[in-house]
Formats: sequence, structure tokens, C-alpha cells
Amino acid sequence: MKKNKEQKVRLGVNIDHIATLRQVRGNTTSYPDLIHLMKETIRGGADQITIHLREDRRHIKDSDVVRVCHASNVDVNLEMACTEEMTRIALKNNPEWVCIVPEKRAELTTEGGLDLFQVEKSLGKLIDKVQPRGIEVSLFLDPDLNQVQKAFELGADAIEFHTGKWVLLKDSKKKQKEFERLKQAASFCDDLGMRVHAGHGLDFEHTKKILEIKSLKELNIGHSIICYSLEWGLRETVSRFRKILS
Ligand code: PXP
Repeated sequence: MKKNKEQKVRLGVNIDHIATLRQVRGNTTSYPDLIHLMKETIRGGADQITIHLREDRRHIKDSDVVRVCHASNVDVNLEMACTEEMTRIALKNNPEWVCIVPEKRAELTTEGGLDLFQVEKSLGKLIDKVQPRGIEVSLFLDPDLNQVQKAFELGADAIEFHTGKWVLLKDSKKKQKEFERLKQAASFCDDLGMRVHAGHGLDFEHTKKILEIKSLKELNIGHSIICYSLEWGLRETVSRFRKILS
């Protein structure tokens, strides 16, 4: 990691949706300027820039990965599917982190965690290739103890727990139950010596609540930050989130 290793909870800002706005008119506009806004994000206090290179390249493009990795002076976290193509791209661009996510072409956004029992073999190969190059590996998982144990056996550096299901639950009992699952899985992850990260769907309210998980080291937040920034500006929005995390 480039900096802030000891900081309490790191803030990774996912800038995919800046690229979404650029692509929404069929890639005919050169605005918004992803790199300029990435720098604004860093000025606001982001500890990390997160980007997801999807198989269909619907927002972040290959050239964005090159430019972001080159221009960022904070860690870059490349979210990607567990494929040989993505492994090659990671090795070429050397982000500080890769976060391995499941990917379905038709989904609006990542819909759930990985099933490590399904991808064990290919994931093992990916980890063996990237870790010796100094790229740390986080795995995007639902809060499931069997998955956490498997992540440990595979040698993951961190688990990013999928908070999306918890965020969307409206029924207070079910919501509390899902939060308890997150807490328990985070504590198991921490006991095994892996870093606890979390993300998906986090707004101000849920960000404040998830900080009750004491082992938490990092949050990755995208959509809500880009939405709030229409009102407050990007730098100010990131700095408001940074304050909550401090
Ligand atoms: N973490 C992971 C692994 C993701 O796939 C995403 C969405 O790209 C995020 C965090 C950020 O989610 P959101 O945009 O809902 O804050």
C-alpha cells in the first residue's frame, strides 16, 4: 500500500460512475474528465481509487486502467473477474490491490459475493501470479463463514464483505440479522489474520452504522458519492465521508 497503512478505516472511492456518465452518450463525449475528477477525489481525502474493468467495458475502459494506475498517487484497487484476460491486465498495470468479484453480463451492478468453491482452481492460479508481483488480493464475499475459511486457505490478503444485501433490507429484524452476520464474518476474518474490507450500496447512514464493526480496515464506496457530489461537489462529498471514517 502506498500510504495510510495505519489509518483507522481507509476510504476507497469507486469512480466507475464518472466513466458511466462519459459513456452514456455512446462514447461521443470527452467529458467528464476521469483523471481530473480522480485527482479531485484524492484532494478530498480518498485513500484509494477503485475501478472495475468489466468484461463488457460498460464504463471503465482498458485505457482508463492505464491512466488511473499511472496518475494516482494513492493506492489503486482494480475490481475484476477471475479470468486470464483480467490477470494479464492486472500484471501489466500493477495496481496495489485487485478485488476479485463475480461478474454477470446482464447485471446492473455486482449482485453478490464469489462462491470460492466454484472458482477455487482458477482463483488459486490468479493469486499465485499476482501476489509475487506485490499486488494484494481481496475477495468480494457474502458474510459466510465457510467462504471466509476458504479465502484464508487460498491465501487472500483481505475479504471485502458485500454490504449490498444488508443495505437494501427494509424489515428491521431481517436487517439486524444480516448485520450480525456481517459482524460475525468480519470477526472470523480478522481472527484468521486477513484484512476486513466492505462495500456496496453504502450511503451516509449505512457508512456510519458499519463503523460499529471494529475490525474494519477499509470501505469502498461509489454510487452514493457520485450522486451526492451533484449537490456538494466531488471533493466536498469525499471529504464528508472521510470525516465520518476518521
Ligand atoms: N465494492 C465492490 C466489490 C463493487 O463491485 C462495487 C460496485 O462496483 C463497490 C464496492 C461500490 O459499490 P457502490 O457503487 O454501490 O458504492
